[in-house]
Amino acid sequence: MLKLTVLVSGGGTNLQAIIDSIADGRITDTEIVQVISNNPKAYALERAAKAGIPALCISPKSYENRELFHEALLAQIRKADTDLIVLAGFMVVVPPSIIQAYKNRIINIHPSLIPSFCGKGYYGLHVHEAALAKGVKVSGATVHFVDEGTDTGPIILQKAVAVEQGDTPETLQRRIMEQAEWKIMPQAIQLIAHGKVHVRDGRTFIDPD
Ligand code: GRF
Repeated sequence: MLKLTVLVSGGGTNLQAIIDSIADGRITDTEIVQVISNNPKAYALERAAKAGIPALCISPKSYENRELFHEALLAQIRKADTDLIVLAGFMVVVPPSIIQAYKNRIINIHPSLIPSFCGKGYYGLHVHEAALAKGVKVSGATVHFVDEGTDTGPIILQKAVAVEQGDTPETLQRRIMEQAEWKIMPQAIQLIAHGKVHVRDGRTFIDPD
């Protein structure tokens, strides 16, 4: 049984996709042991509670400094016997202490086809604004392992989504969520739960079915 800690900051639609995929069997042998938000108002916390999943807030504002916040976060992740940390719209930079403790056991979803429109400053609607400003005809989403860089870890899955005439950052964001993010995040978890993802030389290799 793969035990997930899901870290969130906002609406939690990717969290919901994981919850639904576990409920309907698209993800098997996997359990969300807890959902942690840095933001007490995150709707994701309600989604977790509705699904009967332990949900808690660890806010940096409750700690004297960043280091103590990071220690509290890592302690809570460890307490629940986490196998895999899932960043599902988590707006906090994960510190090296957690990345090292969970090497190749942290995954993130990014709303573009990495290495386009990623790295520092590319989050939320900024990603889609940049894609539209460049005039790309295709964008998409990427699930990747998290390393010390920003959006630089080994890529697990990607899915392309068409950019349409007249798209706004908001319409493109929504289409990428519906057509890519909510699909490849559960798929990546299912692959990891069944030991099918291997990392070698900064790349992933996925066992065939
Ligand atoms: C998604 O667009 C995801 O790609 C990005 O943050 C957003 C989270 O949305 N990392 P939600 O909270 O899952 O609805």
